[in-house]
Amino acid sequence: MGFFNGVPVSIKGTGMYVPEKVLTNQDLTAMVDTSDEWIRDRTGIRRRHIAAEGELTSSIAEKASREALRNSGISPEDLDMVIVATNSPDTLFPGVAPKLQGMLEAKKAGAFDVQSGCTSGVYSMAIATGGIASGVWKNVLVVGAEVLSRIIDWTDRNTCVLFGDGAGAMVLGPAADGEGHFISANMRSDGTKHDQITLLGGLVEYPASGETLEKKLHYVAMKGNDVFKFVNRVIPPFLKEYCLESGFQPEDISWWFFHQANQRIIDKTAERLGINPEKVVINIHEYGNTSAASVFLALCEFMREGKLQKGEKLLFTAFGAGMTYGGIIYEA
Ligand code: ACO
Repeated sequence: MGFFNGVPVSIKGTGMYVPEKVLTNQDLTAMVDTSDEWIRDRTGIRRRHIAAEGELTSSIAEKASREALRNSGISPEDLDMVIVATNSPDTLFPGVAPKLQGMLEAKKAGAFDVQSGCTSGVYSMAIATGGIASGVWKNVLVVGAEVLSRIIDWTDRNTCVLFGDGAGAMVLGPAADGEGHFISANMRSDGTKHDQITLLGGLVEYPASGETLEKKLHYVAMKGNDVFKFVNRVIPPFLKEYCLESGFQPEDISWWFFHQANQRIIDKTAERLGINPEKVVINIHEYGNTSAASVFLALCEFMREGKLQKGEKLLFTAFGAGMTYGGIIYEA
């Protein structure tokens, strides 16, 4: 955990895009042995959006980015860095970020992907803020984008009901007078639990072969109940400690942007922290778990509603494959 010193960094604009195609819980009952009731009760998910054929992580990232850039008033030529948080890149290399930088013609910008499970979005916000605060970068485009539907086994009810596709973006830059700023960040990992959420096939440990295909190692695999227990044990005390170290009680946070993985996890965490449920931003029912994109989608929808008041404190937090987890606090 640490405070951002140096140049104060503000959110200049946000944007999002979700594919048009919607897959309901009812639709899933025709694909696997599940029910609308089971999915709603266990996860809070009702629908998720699924990329059309040919739609790529880079293409949905571009749409979200163009809206964020428009809302920020910053042009692509003024970007110094493009960071894409994703666990479902178009290809392992090139990364999505360089492709996006090319699509946007952000000619003076560098570009890289951050791939660290669902926490990638929060990690990316912290990396971008650190880079701007230090003076190395000025304007940074940060995007969370996922087309998880292509790396999911649609015959595995343990995973296929959980995930959705989507992209959210934000432009960060030096705060002008009266603008908000990021306060602190805390990024953690427990790599001893690296076997809980995996996609093993087709790389160094398990090079692509007939056997990896047969064992379906090129799909997301998850020990769902172990993840559930890990998160319930680790995340509430982590968030309490993080708030206190940042100089706040949990109730001082005006709006909580949890990773939208499971409504039950969010509710339990909020209850243990003594947070008013009305202060928790939720959109999991509409999008499912969009991994690295989830906190960006929640923020963008929140901004569109025009609810944010000057001086309010926002806390973004996520956990995911690794197991990684983290948080970042912003004052509007
Ligand atoms: N429909 C109906 N039944 C199902 C389904 C389904 N889609 N999926 C599992 N079940 C069954 C199981 O087979 C099991 O049956 P059994 O008792 O006969 O064996 C029963 O439901 C209970 O299964 P559990 O796994 O114990 O159910 P749980 O209450 O833990 O809920 C869930 C499962 C929703 C996956 C939950 O564990 C969870 O959300 N875990 C966290 C996952 C997560 O947050 N991942 C985020 C990170 S992802 C990333 O980083 C890419």
